[in-house]
Amino acid sequence: MKKFFINTYGCQMNVHESEKLAGILYKRGYIHARSNDDADIILLNTCCIRETAETRVLGNLGMIKKIKEKRPEVIVGICGCMPQKSGTADMLKKRCPFIDIIIGTYNMSKLDFYIDAVESGRKIVDIWENEQEMENVPIYRDSKFTAYVNIMYGCNNFCSYCIVPYVRGRERSRDFNDIVNEVRDLIEKGYKEITLLGQNVNSYKGGSPEFSKLLKALSNFDGEYRIKFMTSHPKDLTEDVVEVMASNDKIANYIHLPVQSGSDRILKLMNRKYTASEYIEKINMIRSYIPNVGISSDIMVGFPSETEDDYLRSEELVKKVRYNNLFTFIYSRRSGTVADKMNDQIDIKTKTDRIERLIKLQFDIGNELAKSFIGNTYRVLCEHINDGIGYGKSSCDKSISFNANANVLGEFVNVRITEVKNNKLIGVMI
Ligand code: SAH
Ligand code: SF4
Ligand code: F3S
Repeated sequence: MKKFFINTYGCQMNVHESEKLAGILYKRGYIHARSNDDADIILLNTCCIRETAETRVLGNLGMIKKIKEKRPEVIVGICGCMPQKSGTADMLKKRCPFIDIIIGTYNMSKLDFYIDAVESGRKIVDIWENEQEMENVPIYRDSKFTAYVNIMYGCNNFCSYCIVPYVRGRERSRDFNDIVNEVRDLIEKGYKEITLLGQNVNSYKGGSPEFSKLLKALSNFDGEYRIKFMTSHPKDLTEDVVEVMASNDKIANYIHLPVQSGSDRILKLMNRKYTASEYIEKINMIRSYIPNVGISSDIMVGFPSETEDDYLRSEELVKKVRYNNLFTFIYSRRSGTVADKMNDQIDIKTKTDRIERLIKLQFDIGNELAKSFIGNTYRVLCEHINDGIGYGKSSCDKSISFNANANVLGEFVNVRITEVKNNKLIGVMI
């Protein structure tokens, strides 16, 4: 039987698209290979959010070139956000002529058809911007318990640093009933945690109250399960969504609310459309409804013209909010974006210094928070078990490991936190 291997580089959206590519390949009769080395088709499902993401892809292409030299019959395909970025498909074609298929974000559902073309001796480049969603394709999900479901595609926000609106097009919301049916079907199949995906879920179908209506509709099924969603945009997150979260056990007590910076001057340059104090007000509003809510965020350091004082405002905000989890990034220039043309790009030494301080700050806050959770009991969905150690997440998105026996795999269990090691929560099942 022929085998495939998919290398995935991007966000959850991208991970889920790899599950759809896998579904298409299974339908064609392929099965999973263990690695690129024993695959008959190798796909790279790429990301271009930061330069580092692209560097990883280009590095791996060097290794794949060697495989192709040894086994010229292997089909190599590159897809996702990177080839969709202006000029990149041409660059890849020139630099890596061994690639058989180059497809952008809009045309991935045609993979099956393009494999036929390659088998009859052609090379394919398709980055046509036709906003064709990957819907009605078979999905081969990586987990039997947790699942991603798209609710919208694209983004209208044009944050000045971000490439996503250029490679994913304008916002398109998925049909309400299609989403409800997909989630119902997953829950009937035994899935326990569904994560709804969109670049800005709060603007589903144009904005409030459509997203809270959707959450309500998704919380009416029988059985124990939880719904998570990402990403929320602080300018669009409204109280009706938080009310539904608070009044409904099926909606997880977790929200990812990227702030990006604590400086109003930088937020304005970023085109984020809120101030640091408006952001803090939203956090307070959420906590007034859901005191034990888990909140995470993204912060970028070294945006053009960011001064030490601007940076310190991000630190100040992090100290005020005390996030459960913080994803930190060094600003990366993306050609075609507004920020790329701004003066005062920050040198790498300053950026590295700032990110190191921010990581250290969050580590200390995370550690203090984690210690304060000792003695608490959480309902955890056991996602993996390895050598008797179970691993899973709480409704508020805390990662917890605990002693476990095989029959709790895929089940909800109560875990009491007993210790913290390297900021990791460890507990016992009770
Ligand atoms: N739609 C989501 C996710 C966007 S990408 C959102 O709005 O939050 C995830 C994160 O990558 C962003 O939140 C941002 O912090 C980071 N990011 C985006 N563009 C970047 C860039 N050019 N350089 C560094 N980090 C970037
Ligand atoms: Fe990028 Fe901003 Fe859209 Fe998020 S909301 S995808 S950061 S443009
Ligand atoms: Fe996601 Fe990266 Fe594309 S973050 S939307 S895979 S650029």
